[in-house]
Order: sequence, then C-alpha cells, then structure tokens
Amino acid sequence: MCGIVGYIGNKSAATFLLDGLTKLEYRGYDSAGIAIFDGQNVFIEKAVGRLDALKEKLKGRTPEGVIGIGHTRWATHGRPSDQNAHPHTDCHGDFVVVHNGIIENFMPLKEQLIAKGHHFASETDTEVIPHLVEEFYRGDFAEAVRAVLNRIEGSYSLVFMSKKHPDTLICAKQDNPLVVGLGDGENFIASDIPAIINRTRRTYILNDGEVAIVKRDSVSITDRRGNAVDKKIFHVNWNAEAAEKGGYEHFMLKEINEQPKAVRDTMSKRVVKGGDRIVFDELNWTTEFLNGLDKVYIVACGTAYHAGLVGKFYIEKLARILVEVDLASEFRYRDPIVDDKTLVIVISQSGETSDTLAALKESKRRGAKTLAVTNVVGSSIAREAEQVVHTWAGPEIAVASTKAYTTQLILMFMLALYMAQLRSTVSEERSRELIGLLKKIPAQISETLSDVEPIKTFARRYGFNEDVFYIGRSLDYDVALEGALKLKEISYIHAEAYASGELKHGTLALIVEGVPVIALATQKSVYDKTISNIKEVKARDAIVIGIAADGDKEIEKVVDHVMFVPDTDELLIPLLTVVPLQLLAYYAAITRGCDVDKPRNLAKSVTVE
Ligand code: AGP
Repeated sequence: MCGIVGYIGNKSAATFLLDGLTKLEYRGYDSAGIAIFDGQNVFIEKAVGRLDALKEKLKGRTPEGVIGIGHTRWATHGRPSDQNAHPHTDCHGDFVVVHNGIIENFMPLKEQLIAKGHHFASETDTEVIPHLVEEFYRGDFAEAVRAVLNRIEGSYSLVFMSKKHPDTLICAKQDNPLVVGLGDGENFIASDIPAIINRTRRTYILNDGEVAIVKRDSVSITDRRGNAVDKKIFHVNWNAEAAEKGGYEHFMLKEINEQPKAVRDTMSKRVVKGGDRIVFDELNWTTEFLNGLDKVYIVACGTAYHAGLVGKFYIEKLARILVEVDLASEFRYRDPIVDDKTLVIVISQSGETSDTLAALKESKRRGAKTLAVTNVVGSSIAREAEQVVHTWAGPEIAVASTKAYTTQLILMFMLALYMAQLRSTVSEERSRELIGLLKKIPAQISETLSDVEPIKTFARRYGFNEDVFYIGRSLDYDVALEGALKLKEISYIHAEAYASGELKHGTLALIVEGVPVIALATQKSVYDKTISNIKEVKARDAIVIGIAADGDKEIEKVVDHVMFVPDTDELLIPLLTVVPLQLLAYYAAITRGCDVDKPRNLAKSVTVE
C-alpha cells in the first residue's frame, strides 16, 4: 500500500504535496518523491527512508510550480532505494507517473519495451507505465493514458503528469483507493481523504474503471473507453484523525477489514491464471532441491509463530516433508539440529524482530538454507535471508497483528502447495480443487466480516470475565492459540488455548460454572472427538461459544452460542475462523476501555531481546 497525491491550481504544489504525503505516511514509508512542473521543466526529487529524508533534500531548493504529483512508498517490487522511489518517467521525462498497487503483467511489458529501445532506471513494476504512455502518445494525453490502462493488468491507483500538457493531471483507479478533492481554482488528488481534508471536504470518490481528467477549474470523469461518467460529490464529515483510519475507530478494525484485499494481493501473481498451478518466481525451486532436504524448520515469534504452526501442518500434509516449529527466542539457544539439509523458514511481519533475526543468523552459521516470509521489503530479515517471499498486506499499524497473520497463512499454504507440486505429492486434481477454493477465500473473509453484531454481543456479555479458554484440535488448536493471544494482548483478559484432547490432563480443573470457553470445531477429521471435548466442559457448566462451518447441524446441540464461518476445505478454514476471534478480542477490548491500537507494555516491532 502506498500513498499518492496530485495538485493543480493557483498555489504552491510543493506545499500540498508534502503536507499530503505526511498525512499518508501510514500507507507506506520506505521512500518518497515528488515531481513539479515549474513552467519550463519537470523537477523530480526522491529519497529513500521516511518522508523527512525527502524534505531534507528539498530544503532551500523546493521548486515553484502549481502542478505536481507525489508518492510515499511501501515497496512490493524492487527494494527501497532512490531509484525505485516514485515518481517514474519515460525515456525523455515527458511523462511522469506515481502508482499504488501491483502491475501483474509488468515483466512481459517491460521486455517488449526494452526490445523497442526503452531504457529503464528502476526495478519497479510501475516504471513500465510512463514508457507505455510514451509508446501510445500521439498528441492526446487522455487517449494515451486510456490505451495504457487497457494494456496493464493488476491493481492500481495512478496519477499521470506531462510537461506537454502542463494544465492537466490524469488519474485512474482499479482496486486501490483514489479521491479527487474539489477546491476553488485548485483541485487535489490523493489515495485517501486525510491528505486533502484540510483543503477541501468536497470530493469525488473514484470507482474501479474510472478515469479523472483534472484541471485547475474543472474535473471530468470517464470510464476507460472515454465515456462520460456522472459522479455525485461526496461531502466528507470525518475529522482528520478518523480519516486516517478510513473512518474506522481504530487501525486494528481497519486492518481486520483490509484482510480480503491483503489476502487477494498476496495471492496475486502466485496463482497462475487458469488456476492449476502455484508459482513463486522469486524462488524457482526444483524437485531436486526439495528432495535433498531432510527437514524444514519454521522459526518465529508471537502471531508469526502461530502462523508457523499452521504452515507446519500445510507442508507436512501436502509436501510430506518433516517440519519442526520453534519460538525464535528458544531456537537460538537450543543448539538446534540444523545443517545444510535443513531449510529454515523465518516468518516476521516487521522483518525486524531481534529474536527472529538472531535465529536466522544462527541457522545460516550452521549451514542451513534460509527463506524469509516477511511483510516489509528491504527489512533486516529480508536482507539477511538467502531467499525472501513477501506478504503484500500493506503497512500494519496496530500492535495486534491481524492482516499480517492471514496473509502469512495464505502464503504458507501456497508455499506448501508449490512444494507439493514440485514433489508430486498432491494430484493435479487435488491441486486444482485446492486452488479453486483458495481463490474464494477473500470473498469468504468479506462474508465473515459482514455480520459482527453477534460478536459484539458476546464481547459485551463476556468481556468482563477474567478467564477465557480457547479449545480445538488440529488446525483449530493452532487458530485457538492465535485467538487467545489476540484477546490477551488487547483486552488484558487472561486467555489460554488448549488442545481439546489435553483438557483432561489438568486444565479441566479450571473449568467451572460460567467460565467462557471458545470451542473451534471445523476440522472434520477430528470433529467427533471435538464434540466430545465440548461435552466435557459443558458437563462442568462452562459457557461454550462454538466456531463452526456453515451447514454444521450438530454443534448447536452442544454449545450455548455459535458463530458460523463459510464452509471450505479444512486446510483453508483457519483463514476464516480467525476473523471472529480477532473481532471478539477487538470488541472485548472496547468493552473494557482498553487502548486497542497501542496496548500496554507492547510494541509493534520487538527489536530487543
Ligand atoms: C501479535 O499480535 C503481536 N504483535 C506480536 O506477537 C508479533 O506477532 C510478534 O512480535 C512478531 O512480530 P513480527 O511478525 O514482526 O516478527
């Protein structure tokens, strides 16, 4: 997720661009840049690092000019650097573009453009766009832009500027947000409302497929074929702080609701069109490489560790390779049995967790092959590992990890299926079936998010309990661990997760009348055993909230309340069952008046031992 801005009017473009990017830094902050037309030429300045680095570079040399565009980056393709920072231009600097999203077909387009003599300055997918404008331009700026939009595939919000047309900005939206702010003798473009709310509250919220031609005193909107679109003005009544959270009360709730898109983005480019294969262009593993391994070690902390437990299940089930999972803080001091036949996979949203980084270095010292799964391009862990695959969740601001977890799960699932394809441990038919179900997951997460009222009710009713238990078997147990952590870390309720079969070995002593027990019962292969365990706690008068798959007729007979999630393969259902658990923790924390985004004693990235 990146932040983009544009300005055209009768005041300083630089002032709006830098203020707007400051308001959008939460959308991405590994590099930034602006481009301003000063009447003669296009002035471009870019800087790796936070926005302050760009402001430092601009000190005393910010150009005049009343038209410009800007960008704050969250890298997906190409590490954070001055060269990879936006804006990007064509060969002659006639066309300048900023982009938020992923151009899925950029490689073939780049190869075709290079074959035609175009020179590229960056590693980004974005840079193909200005070169395509250069290819298609025959004097009509809007026509050239529309031709480009009909060639690229993927998600984007784009702003185009050209010194050949200094009175016009053009912007386009597909899958990523974009708004046009309407001023008096000036107009604004931004990824999100926070960037413009101090200048105007009259906006056009663009829809997918729409293109806006923005001049200082007019805005016209068309579809990608140039047909006029009639838009209503949206009056923003949020305050600035609420706007940064997209209208949600907390970043955590915003990020829970971003999960469908985060999961879809993480899947994009890895599920081959036609849906019968998973690809990891960044890995290019071979059957021989995988068959040469004697085990996989997954090492992580906190929520990432919980994702690792699910990853273990996936790799062992699908690729039939032995997997061990360990907490990074334990692994690094355990004198682990690791050698050149071990693949160590470290999972880390931030890519900066010191225990995980130390475990990675220890693994390399012992000769292991290493792979990082991280959400931050260019992070310490991404740079330290021999190979890296990224989740594309966008920045996660809330301390409690939500969209990072679900994108880690989907990535581990795809990795396991990719390994299985290479080792022929899953049939073509089963692989196609799983990929078909995989593609439905984003919509099923949206469906799960669509009815939060029952969860709010449970949170209000049980949010003041001091002890809550989560139980489950198999993958349900792994998700129960994550659900318990969510509740603990943001509502401060003492929550524990137990393997259902383990209750009778001690924990059952704690189950007394009225104790809330969240029972996950989605794993068909152990369903009857789970129902028996639920009956065990019901026999001690616990209050049981079941989490089950749509169509389950048995669960309601044995629990007090049920939250259903859409049915899917038991391997994929963790991506759905975790959502009500995230929401339960969120609303319980609200009920208790806790600081949801910044819970006590915790930090977003634990860069100390
Ligand atoms: C989870 O909600 C916590 N924020 C915490 O457990 C986190 O998952 C852990 O610190 C690991 O962080 P990382 O994924 O950035 O390495």
